[in-house]
Amino acid sequence: MRVVDLIIKKRDGYELSDEEIRFWIKGYTEGSIPDYQSSAMSMAILFKGMTKREISTLTDAMMHSGDIVDLSKIKGIKVDKHSTGGVGDKTSLVLGPMVAACGAKLAKMSGRGLGHTGGTLDKLESIPGFQISRTEEQLIKEVNDIGCAIIGQTKSLVPADKKLYALRDVTGTVESIPLISASIMSKKLASGTDAILLDVTLGEGAFMKNIDQARELARTMVDIGKHLNRNTIAVLSDMSEPLGMAVGNALEVKEAIESLHGRGPKDLMKLCYTSGSIMLVQAHIAKDREEGRKMLEEVIKNGKAFEKFVEMVKYQGGDVSYILHPEKFEISRHVIEIRADRSGYVQSLNALTIGESSMKLGGGRETLDDVIDMSAGILLNKKVASRVEKGELLATVYTNKSEEEYLPVVETIKRTFVIEDRAFEELDVIREIID
Ligand code: URA
Repeated sequence: MRVVDLIIKKRDGYELSDEEIRFWIKGYTEGSIPDYQSSAMSMAILFKGMTKREISTLTDAMMHSGDIVDLSKIKGIKVDKHSTGGVGDKTSLVLGPMVAACGAKLAKMSGRGLGHTGGTLDKLESIPGFQISRTEEQLIKEVNDIGCAIIGQTKSLVPADKKLYALRDVTGTVESIPLISASIMSKKLASGTDAILLDVTLGEGAFMKNIDQARELARTMVDIGKHLNRNTIAVLSDMSEPLGMAVGNALEVKEAIESLHGRGPKDLMKLCYTSGSIMLVQAHIAKDREEGRKMLEEVIKNGKAFEKFVEMVKYQGGDVSYILHPEKFEISRHVIEIRADRSGYVQSLNALTIGESSMKLGGGRETLDDVIDMSAGILLNKKVASRVEKGELLATVYTNKSEEEYLPVVETIKRTFVIEDRAFEELDVIREIID
C-alpha cells in the first residue's frame, strides 16, 4: 500500500477502507509516513469529508495508537467532560469540583491552550506548585480518595493525536468535523471514562462558526460514543463572546474561585449547572436534571464545591494559600483601563479578538514552546447587552509586555466593543442539548 494513492483517493472524493485508514495512522504514529503526506491527507479529509464508518475507524485507529487507561479500579461510574475550545473557558475548574462534591468520580485529562483558545492545564499551573504530571496509579488513587483529578494526558495516550493535532494546527486543517471528532473521541475513549459530556462551542471564538456545523460535530461525536457503549451527551454553547469576565490564566483561576464561592458570572454558572446536572444523571447520582441542578446549587451554597477544589489543589501539590487568599496571585507590571468613548449598549464583543489579544499580551502561546505569562490577560467589565455610559470602564488589561507591544493590542480590544444606541438581548450561553 502507498500512502500517496490513499491521498489521491480521498482527494478525488472516494471512501477509504478500514485497512487504508489504519495503515495511515499506524505509519504516521511510527514515523514511516512523513508529516507532509499526513498534512496532504488532512487537507483532503477537510475538503472531502468522511463517512460515519470512516470516522469511526479513524477514531478507533487513533485510540489504539497508544495505551488505553484502565480506570476499573475507581469505584463507581466515571464521568468526564470535554470542551471543543473557547475563550475564557474555565468551566472544568468550577464544574469538576461541583460534580465531585455531589459524589461523581471525575478523572479528567486536559490539554494545553494553543492559539486563541486557553487550556485548563495552563490555568491550573498558574497555582504555584500545582502538578499536572501524574501516573495512572496516582490518578486512580486521587479519584478514589477525593473524587476528582485534573491532570495532563499521559505520554502514551493517543500518540497519533499528539502528532496529528500539532500538524493540523500549522496546516490550516483544524476545522474539519471528522478530524476534530476523531481527535476528541479517541482521547476520551482511551482515557477510560464511562460517560462523556461534550461542550461543543460555536461562534467567533470557536472552531465551529455556526449552529449547523456545531450540531453536525456534536451529533458525530455523540454517535461515536454511543456506538462504543459510552453514555455521551453534547451541550452546544455560545462562544461568540468570551465565557465569564476573565481571560488569561491566573485571572481565570481567580474567577473560578469566585464562582465556587457562589459569585460566578451568569453565563459561566449556567453552563456549569446545565453540564453538571447532565453529568450527575449520567453518573446515576441524580434521577433527573432538575434534581441534579438542586444538588449542584446546594454544594455551591454550603461551600462543599469550594472545599473540593481546595482538596484537589492540595492533593496535586498546589499552594492552597493562593486559593484561600487569591489576592496573593501576582499582578502584572502594567494595568491599563479601557473606557468607553460613547454611551449605549454593547452590541458585540468578538471572542476571537479577545482570545488573540490575551495571547499577544503574554497570556497564551503562538507555538508550543512559548512560555506563558500567567498574570497576563483581560478582565471584562461589560459584555454583550450591557448598558455603558461614556467614560465607563469596559475592560482592564494586564500585561508585562512593553508599551510598544501592548498599545496596539489595547487599541484592538477597545475597537472590538461595538457600542450602539439600541438595546440588545443578552446572549444565551446554552444553545441546544444533543443526546
Ligand atoms: N480539541 C481537540 O482535542 N482536538 C481537536 O481537533 C479540536 C479541539
